[in-house]
Amino acid sequence: MAWRLDWSKETNILTAMLLWPVWSLILLLIPVDAADKGDDVRAGCSTAVNDLVYIVDGSWSVGFADFETAKQWLINITSQFDISSHYTQVAVIQYSDNPRLEIPLGKQQSAADLIRAIKGITYMGGNTQTGRAIRFAVDHVFSTSQRASPVKNRIAVVVTDGKSQDDIVDSSMEARAQSITVFAVGVGDEIANSELVSIANKPSTAYVLYAEDYTTIDRIRDSMEQKLCEESVCPTRIPVASRDEKGFELMVGMNIETKAKKIPGSLVSQTAFALNTSTDITEKTSEIFPEGLPPSYVFVATIRLKGIAPTLNFDLWRVLSKKKEIQAAVTLNGKDKSVTFTTTSVSKREQRIVFQGFQALYDGMWHQLKLLVRPSQVTSFLDDQQIQEVLLEPAEPIYINGKTQVAKRRGTDVTVPMEIQKLRLYCDPHQSEKETACEIFSVVKTFNL
Ligand SMILES: *[C@@H]1O[C@H](CO)[C@@H](O)[C@H](O)[C@H]1NC(C)=O
Ligand SMILES: *[C@@H]1O[C@H](CO)[C@@H](O)[C@H](O)[C@H]1NC(C)=O
Repeated sequence: MAWRLDWSKETNILTAMLLWPVWSLILLLIPVDAADKGDDVRAGCSTAVNDLVYIVDGSWSVGFADFETAKQWLINITSQFDISSHYTQVAVIQYSDNPRLEIPLGKQQSAADLIRAIKGITYMGGNTQTGRAIRFAVDHVFSTSQRASPVKNRIAVVVTDGKSQDDIVDSSMEARAQSITVFAVGVGDEIANSELVSIANKPSTAYVLYAEDYTTIDRIRDSMEQKLCEESVCPTRIPVASRDEKGFELMVGMNIETKAKKIPGSLVSQTAFALNTSTDITEKTSEIFPEGLPPSYVFVATIRLKGIAPTLNFDLWRVLSKKKEIQAAVTLNGKDKSVTFTTTSVSKREQRIVFQGFQALYDGMWHQLKLLVRPSQVTSFLDDQQIQEVLLEPAEPIYINGKTQVAKRRGTDVTVPMEIQKLRLYCDPHQSEKETACEIFSVVKTFNL
């Protein structure tokens, strides 16, 4: 701007004072303008607000070469996060007899700086005092976090290849007492399972990871990334059987259970809910998915389409931006008996995948529709039968300042009357294998035969 003032020149101060009314007007206008552009709020793993502390074994058993590999692995698993004081801050502790703070929390304010700093860490060598290192992280590293807004997730990742020579139980308990989530990554066969289980949060199936050795640690990169991301964007847990699974219980979150009429479900033991044209299932996305969607998830819906519903095309579930652009949607196309999955795309406005072969979904009976969404593919299932797997292009984080809706005609706010028994989004893609359609009569029948 040509009239921008040069504040460094004293002579201009007078001009600045004269222009003050103009300045205050501009300042007043800025927030209004920003609010209008509210659509710019995308959320996903990259924008998660994490304090992430890596606690890395630097004892003699690791060796120089494998220590270098461990460093590279840390760099790799960090790549999905936006490193800054607004989003993810990273610290690294190397330990053997004593812990050494290699990178203080939040010191590096960009990914490039962080990568350089991790590469610069030199191997210590020594004994393995894992308990002491965890205590050091709890007492001296997490507590030094400095942020403008409070941190949402405090996560520690302990990477070790040997049995600890000190007690790890007390310090791990202390970490949990301070709401720090601890992952334990065991490398090699020297490490005792019981020790990793004590270090990590429960359930250990979710928080303990193994690699055969450092040369194959890259194989657990995807699962570590997914787990770190789940931890960042999936704060809620859904009780499933005797386990707690991370995910979003949309029957509750979307207020379906309070807004719709209760009806008998697919089996005597089940309850379902009937939506009519005046039931509006709409919530703010920022309240349902405050941190966006994880890169992998399982969408599960147990539904019955009767009356006109099986003949209509409508969004069973959709996330809209403020400008009503689809960020994620599962669309039922009654006209041609297909199902469409829509997601974002980094190169196009959106990507739409049409799955054929869903005739049965429209037959007026209860059915379970499941979509297993992964970063590079999406797989559809009907009543436990795989229908089709299709490749996806990279998706973008979703806009979270629009609305999330259920059972709406495409492009309108009109509700389609339908019956819903289950509507969930699990964050762990492995939940896809565990989530069987055992509430569907035909599936139970086949199972019992
Ligand atoms: C890190 O990522 C690069 C690129 O994907 C890969 O070639 C390398 O093997 C990875 N290293 C480790 C230790 O995970
Ligand atoms: C729609 O469902 C609601 C909630 O059960 C009920 O109060 C309302 O009377 C129903 N409206 C119609 C038109 O059936």
